[in-house]
Amino acid sequence: MTLRQSCVCLARIALLAIGLSMVARAGDSNDAAKIARGKYLVEDVGKCADCHTPFDEKGQPIADKHLQGALLVFKPTVPMPAWAERSPNIAGLKGWEEEEAVHFMMTGETSDKHRPRPPMPEYRFNQEDARAVVAYLRSLSTSK
Ligand code: HEC
Repeated sequence: MTLRQSCVCLARIALLAIGLSMVARAGDSNDAAKIARGKYLVEDVGKCADCHTPFDEKGQPIADKHLQGALLVFKPTVPMPAWAERSPNIAGLKGWEEEEAVHFMMTGETSDKHRPRPPMPEYRFNQEDARAVVAYLRSLSTSK
């Protein structure tokens, strides 16, 4: 290999490395954008914390138990054949496969065809939004 050839070769390697690092950085910012959208959907649209975060005695959500499951503070005014009094911990989505959780957020169905009892709403997020919701929930750590 001549000196000139090896220079061209090194330049190509350098360009490739720059290109790869740009792809990696774009991946990180895509993830950040997805998680930010998921946070918005969970907190401002789905209002998941209304049922999945416990409240203190002043009626304020307990911040360090965010989405970690709660005894519901309301009951139905008419008899309901099925009613869940407690919501589970969804911070971190432990025990959920990615695709199972996305399907659940799109249909309200879990993989064993069991439907959670009311008042858990059956959400119909589109696939992109369901993925964002799941990414955000998985990004949360859980102390439980
Ligand atoms: C109006 C109250 C309410 C809201 C709002 C709510 N949930 Fe729930 N959720 C529940 C209750 C209650 C259960 C437990 C149902 C049961 O035990 O059958 C539940 C169960 C779940 C489960 C477990 C399902 C299973 O079968 O294992 C997941 C996951 C979940 N909710 C996610 C969410 C997400 C994400 C949001 C917001 C996008 C949300 N929930 C909003 C009340 C609610």
